[in-house]
Amino acid sequence: MTTPNSTYIECSELFKIYKAAELEVVALRGLELTVGGGEIIAIVGASGSGKSTLLNILAGYDAPSAGTVRVGNYDLLQMTNREVVEYRRHEVGFIWQETSRNLFPYLSALENVELPMVISGAPGPERRQRARELLDVVGLAHRADHKPAQLSGGEQQRVAIAVGLSNQPPLLLADEPTGELDDETGEEVLELLNTVNTDIGTTVIIVTHDPAIATSVGRAIAIKDGKTSTETTREVSFERKLGGDASGTEEFLLIDSAGSVQIPREILDELSIGRRVRVDMKDGKVTLESGD
Ligand SMILES: Nc1ncnc2c1ncn2[C@@H]1O[C@H](COP(=O)(O)OP(=O)(O)OP(=O)(O)O)[C@@H](O)[C@H]1O
Ligand SMILES: [Mg+2]
Repeated sequence: MTTPNSTYIECSELFKIYKAAELEVVALRGLELTVGGGEIIAIVGASGSGKSTLLNILAGYDAPSAGTVRVGNYDLLQMTNREVVEYRRHEVGFIWQETSRNLFPYLSALENVELPMVISGAPGPERRQRARELLDVVGLAHRADHKPAQLSGGEQQRVAIAVGLSNQPPLLLADEPTGELDDETGEEVLELLNTVNTDIGTTVIIVTHDPAIATSVGRAIAIKDGKTSTETTREVSFERKLGGDASGTEEFLLIDSAGSVQIPREILDELSIGRRVRVDMKDGKVTLESGD
């Protein structure tokens, strides 16, 4: 278990290189990310930016090529096969975008929620009771005997959240969990993830392309070209800061462990900054000026 707000996930200088035939794809290039225990965050970014790659690494489905990733007491680069199994079983729950991928079609909602507990060897009466409690948490106690095909897409995703929580993992990962849902149903699923976070204290990471989701969680981190680039927090600010807007969110650039910051292309273009910048400090502020 983690104490609230202590660092729970730490990725540093994280690289993932996929090798397909003669071709190498650098999906993560020195990504840095820190998440506190009990936090709920969104990871946003364009298609191909590395969001699923990061999530699959955090889920223990895929191994990083280099760098460090720690989740709780686990060092994800140094795990034995046995630890990987234990990690996937007890530390993380995972929800896929494709509703059909989350549930077994021939099992009822209740049996689906029970299944991970069967695999981890929980006794029958205990797992049945916990599965019922979880279906209650996701508001589907009255659908316990329905098979996935007899549930709506939103209901299937809610059952998937119950399945993800079945072995009481401290971490819940969701890759585009609302991608196949209409806006309203998607909103309900997000609300449920927020409830799981506040009521159970589960750390939740939601991957999305939808910038609107960013405003429904405390912190949204943007990934660009395999690196974290900006962070948006829901702080109310009346001053117009970089990217700040009327919705009460504020955007910050992230600094990596080497002190590097990715300055947005629009700013570089507007100031005609090319290869070099002159950095000055005056009255507690830093200024950047073209050095070309
Ligand atoms: N198994 C793989 N083999 C080779 N390249 C891969 C593999 N998986 C992902 N990639 C490449 O890595 C990069 C990052 O992919 P990733 O799936 O993490 O993107 P994403 O941000 O999740 O995109 P999307 O929003 O479309 O789901 C892409 O360029 C992708 O083509
Ligand atoms: Mg993806």
